[in-house]
Amino acid sequence: GTAEFPILRAVDGKDSIDISTLTKQTGLTTLDQGFVNTASTKSEITYIDGDEGILRYRGYSIEDVAANATYLEVAWLLIYGELPTPDQLGEFDDKVRHHTLLHEDLKRFFSALPHTAHPMSVLSAAVSALSTYYEDSLDPHDPEKVELSTIRLLAKLPVIAAYAHKKALGQAFLYPDNSLSFVDNFLKLNFGNLAEPYEVNPVLSKALDRLLILHEDHEQNASTSTVRLVGSTEANLFASISAGIQALSGPLHGGANEAVLTMLGKIRDSGESVEKFVERVKAKEDGVRLMGFGHRVYKNFDPRARLVKESADAVLADLGVNDPLLDIAKQLEEVALGDDYFVERKLYPNVDFYTGVIYKAMGFPTRMFTVLFAIGRLPGWIAQWRESNVDPKTKIGRPQQLYVGPDARSWPV
Ligand code: MLT
Repeated sequence: GTAEFPILRAVDGKDSIDISTLTKQTGLTTLDQGFVNTASTKSEITYIDGDEGILRYRGYSIEDVAANATYLEVAWLLIYGELPTPDQLGEFDDKVRHHTLLHEDLKRFFSALPHTAHPMSVLSAAVSALSTYYEDSLDPHDPEKVELSTIRLLAKLPVIAAYAHKKALGQAFLYPDNSLSFVDNFLKLNFGNLAEPYEVNPVLSKALDRLLILHEDHEQNASTSTVRLVGSTEANLFASISAGIQALSGPLHGGANEAVLTMLGKIRDSGESVEKFVERVKAKEDGVRLMGFGHRVYKNFDPRARLVKESADAVLADLGVNDPLLDIAKQLEEVALGDDYFVERKLYPNVDFYTGVIYKAMGFPTRMFTVLFAIGRLPGWIAQWRESNVDPKTKIGRPQQLYVGPDARSWPV
């Protein structure tokens, strides 16, 4: 279908037009088959070098960030561009704790939804509903209001997420416990009950904090570019984040760790050896795929994957859980990375390869996995929304299109 389109033919490698010269000279854009041109974005927030397997938040390596900071500290870094001083962090933490409560009426909103509802749908609907409760903080042109919406979202998203979880279980909602840290509060809201005191497990808490940090931003992926695009219309922050949650709810974006778990479960149940499974992947048997391997950007190890693997070992050891799925995952990684087929295709484990095993061991149902991703990603979405919408405001988004339909045609008489 590219015969009439020299630019497309050139991109397909069937022509010898110098695309970069052509683009510069004519102002035309090229259709990038890899990225299916979604237009371009400048950003100061996150840097990825997919060939080297490098990820940095505001210039700091993901390894340093994960080893030294907390979720809220990284949120500050992403949103405001610098590491917070202890005072700034303390004040930020206080503000977030102060805003955790949901309006009582909003709690009733959960009752209107069926108990079978997917927690991601509940999350997105409730975040969208926040704009009806907090009309006083919607104006995207008023920095103080943007600040207030920012804090409200950071404080309330985990509570909404935990209520979506409790609703699915048919259990009573707990009030947030603001004496606890961000992550401990979240764990209690999910796993505590009204009858007994809840004891936070510090190993779980540290691991969850780290997993959330690893998900805080990842430049222009589908949900983040959605948040920026919706935000560019001057839709409010709650509406834009709700749209991002919807984008993340798609299995291709947020569902990968669930798919990994399903794959590992199938291997376990079939009793098939990992080597045999890998052979079937290579033979491209119908429906047989190595989930959690390869990434659109990384042609090397996803640096997050190594860190997640360490957390998997720490959490399962602490809980005394001996999950055969973790053993199968490790074997798969070893077999695949020792095989030229995967190395030549630059297929390495990505962030989703081990996260499902950890969340499962922590007690989260599979349907909560993407919700956890959303809590992790929230600071990145907010930072990206603010970057594109506030300081300074960019134009309304409009992905560029290359028309490839028929030329003008005469109406049949
Ligand atoms: C992410 O963290 O958003 C995923 O790795 C997807 C992506 O970045 O494209």
